[in-house]
Amino acid sequence: MGAPSSPYRWSITSNSDDLNERLGRYIFDVSQSSIEHHGRFVLATSGGSLPKSFASALARAVSSGLNLRTECWHVFYADERHVALDSADSNHAATLLALGGAPWWRATMHPIDPSLPLDACADAYSGEVLEHVIDGAFDLVLLGMGPDGHTASLFPGHPLLADPTLRVAPISDSPKPPPSRVTLTLPLINASRAVAFVALGEGKAAQVASIAAGSTDLPSALVRQSSPGGVTWFLDPPSASLLPSAK
Ligand code: 6PG
Repeated sequence: MGAPSSPYRWSITSNSDDLNERLGRYIFDVSQSSIEHHGRFVLATSGGSLPKSFASALARAVSSGLNLRTECWHVFYADERHVALDSADSNHAATLLALGGAPWWRATMHPIDPSLPLDACADAYSGEVLEHVIDGAFDLVLLGMGPDGHTASLFPGHPLLADPTLRVAPISDSPKPPPSRVTLTLPLINASRAVAFVALGEGKAAQVASIAAGSTDLPSALVRQSSPGGVTWFLDPPSASLLPSAK
């Protein structure tokens, strides 16, 4: 784990089994302290490769004998594509597919309502999020990072990065297809009691190194918060390869 002066914790895993073990243990720890503190665990998760990492990590935790108590979980999406919930592009569909009907999965899931027009859909999602989070904050937001440094659906140079008011926003010009999405914004992500990125592969190495060096150019570098949970980065050897500690 990282140097004390860093705003980040670095979890550099050696292989997928190690990633599953560490990520599973991490999510378990945050979930149990949230359930003990306020009776539920309110999580936002992402798309891309994250549904697979998420499901594999949880399966690993369960097979290690941990009782996740998923009946106390409320699962939202840090970003979601404005498509039908059974579309191959839907992060909700990808998450359900990755979980594969696991018998231990009893969470209450909160997908967007894609039957609403985009702006109304984001408004409705904002209301649902704010109704369920405790003291205006998620317990955990799980994020990925794109090769351009985007996270959730917050892209480099996009005006949403500077919006101080919206907590959940529509976006209709996402450079990553599909273009219409609903995303959490930085004020809500940064208010979360804990945030974790899972960034895997060589295509993320330069961005990870730049963020570790303190650059604030990339959207992912703007995810910073001061709560005790902090921001933890789960990396694999290729994505960590340009970190000074990995050389
Ligand atoms: C989405 C995302 C997006 C994703 C990153 C990283 O497009 O739905 O949530 O922000 O997390 O693009 O994706 P990978 O993990 O596949 O690189």
